[in-house]
Amino acid sequence: MTDGRKQDSLASHLAPHEIPADLDIIVVDHPLAAARLSTMRDARTDNSAFRTALRELTLMLIYEASRTLQVQYVPIHTPVARTNATRLSNPPLLVPVLRAGLGMADQAHALIPEAQMGFVGLARNEETLQPTPYMESLPESLAGRPVYVLDPMLATGGSMVHTIELLNARGATEVTAICTLAAPEGLRTLADAKLGVRVVTASVDERLNDSGYIVPGLGDAGDRQFGPP
Ligand code: PRP
Ligand code: URA
Repeated sequence: MTDGRKQDSLASHLAPHEIPADLDIIVVDHPLAAARLSTMRDARTDNSAFRTALRELTLMLIYEASRTLQVQYVPIHTPVARTNATRLSNPPLLVPVLRAGLGMADQAHALIPEAQMGFVGLARNEETLQPTPYMESLPESLAGRPVYVLDPMLATGGSMVHTIELLNARGATEVTAICTLAAPEGLRTLADAKLGVRVVTASVDERLNDSGYIVPGLGDAGDRQFGPP
């Protein structure tokens, strides 16, 4: 095969990705999810089309993540008969991680309109790869509430570990990390941190490069949506 792009995509699909056995993870393996992710990966995709593909992929990830939400049944009447309506009994708190997670927030909220939303702002220091917090707006107590953290990228895992520690400090015990892409290194970090998190993602990619970027990845998810800061 002579086409470099084809080789890259085949490699990413066939490589034996390391998924830690001690991590609760759902990899959404669906042709529509793969198609949206491919649009996001393509360097020719402009900011607007990238945001659209991210919103559409978010819908699929949230749909899968929310299968386990608790429901209650209340009696209603259809025009024909009495039946039971299904309602969410404990909707999740949605927590987009700024900036890049903002592009997932509206669509997640559209699918779960009952949800409330909190916010965490982090910027990864590109030298040290450590997260630098700059904003936090979260309910005081998260005991007994499921929390969905929205961040397109799980690279080293540092930003996600920081976010989950903030949530756990407020009593959260049921945290789901919703990421379009994950690197094996970030999954290992999450598993080793023993935070009890569940991960829902559309792909586990090959690795991180020397600059801490996911390979093949999609580049900088914030810049791809909003342009450079
Ligand atoms: C990106 C991404 C994650 C983080 C992942 O954000 O949205 O938050 O990097 O990297 P990690 O797993 O190595 O911590 P970034 O810090 O680039 O900020 P941005 O969203 O403002 O672009
Ligand atoms: N953050 C991004 O936006 N992209 C990566 O590949 C890694 C971290």
